[in-house]
Amino acid sequence: MTRIAQSEYARRRQALMQQMVPGSIAILPAAPVHVRNRDVEYDYRQDSDFQYLTGFPEPEAVLALIPGREHGEYVLFCRERNPERELWDGLRAGQEGAVRDYGADDAFPIDDIDDILPGLIEGRSRVYYALGANPEFDRQLVGWINAIRSKVRQGATPPSEFGALDHLLHDMRLFKSPAEIEVMKAAAAISARAHVRAMQASRAGLSEYHLEAELDYEFRKGGARLPAYGSIVASGRNACILHYRENDAPLRDGDLVLIDAGCEIDCYASDITRTFPVSGRFSPEQKAIYELVLAAQAAAFAEIAPGKHWNQAHEATVRVITAGLVELGLLAGEVDQLIECEAYKPFYMHRAGHWLGMDVHDVGDYKIGGVWRELEPGMCLTVEPGIYIAHDNQSVAERWRGIGVRIEDDVVVTADGCEILTAGVPKTVAEIEALMAAARSQAA
Ligand code: GLY
Ligand code: MN
Ligand code: MN
Repeated sequence: MTRIAQSEYARRRQALMQQMVPGSIAILPAAPVHVRNRDVEYDYRQDSDFQYLTGFPEPEAVLALIPGREHGEYVLFCRERNPERELWDGLRAGQEGAVRDYGADDAFPIDDIDDILPGLIEGRSRVYYALGANPEFDRQLVGWINAIRSKVRQGATPPSEFGALDHLLHDMRLFKSPAEIEVMKAAAAISARAHVRAMQASRAGLSEYHLEAELDYEFRKGGARLPAYGSIVASGRNACILHYRENDAPLRDGDLVLIDAGCEIDCYASDITRTFPVSGRFSPEQKAIYELVLAAQAAAFAEIAPGKHWNQAHEATVRVITAGLVELGLLAGEVDQLIECEAYKPFYMHRAGHWLGMDVHDVGDYKIGGVWRELEPGMCLTVEPGIYIAHDNQSVAERWRGIGVRIEDDVVVTADGCEILTAGVPKTVAEIEALMAAARSQAA
């Protein structure tokens, strides 16, 4: 399976350390385990920043990066090997594995961190740390700093400054390397197959969760452990609930179904939405709304290129959707004015996309110094316009009510435009109807 190589993790640590002031230390804990209910834990997912710098998949671990430290700059605290615990819960790398398999210069048992980490912090002028992300660890860190402060009369030098580690890291994470893009393409390809499978399986009389099961099947078969976020399978008017999660309503002939789902590979997300008719044929109203959203998405792709700013794609979708709603008679007035007073918002209330990477809503600033950020090669984002007509919207004719459509693809900014990572799922009305018709005739 496509994965990030150890050499790339090493390059990232070096790149981070080059940005740290001399005589500093960066400290980052692994994600905690979360209890679901008695004796049951939620599936473990490593913290994205920790994963980005280490690739180390275990909980109860702490990374310290100490540029210039003679006995090694990359220090990992992690669980000790323990045959009994490993019999129950699975293998652990241990300190030997942390060095051998994850490239740590030095590794210590996590149970010894109170004795060892204050000594590594002592004498360092600045501590880089993401304050507030993990309150339990915040308290531990303050404890270690206070332990050093209590020894100033014996000559100890506590750090005098804290730096925002997340700010440095998140700007690095915003720019994807060729290897990261390969992993994101792998995740996108699996998710594309999952969406195709769900379209092929759709029938009136099934329920939304039947289609969710088809998605999960392809995700797991492709090697993904988990979806990148809770899959949305929303039929009929449920599609107008933006983060619908029940996924338990019956699929009805004549309705659309909106699926927003993507898997995660090696902690990289994909995020795809397709909307298609439960029984394989769009009604005239559904087709009109669908083709308007598709046109808005095409207009957004044209605004994604180096030098264009973050908001241009969103602005393009707003213009196409507003003009289209006027043409269909769902809004009345002059397009510029309707945009000015945000008349489109009851139909299109979210933004056209977000950064995409290790987190589905990925890190990275959207504005710099108060102005929209310019796009640069290697940035990955989603493009996901939508139109949602509430079932009780009295200002439109009844035949339009309850239609919800979103179309979402993932792109990477290239030297002269953008490349769509999720092109493997059909998207035009003709393509979707043909795919679904073929599946039905095979099943018959
Ligand atoms: N799946 C969440 C989103 O599209 O932003
Ligand atoms: Mn999205
Ligand atoms: Mn999505």
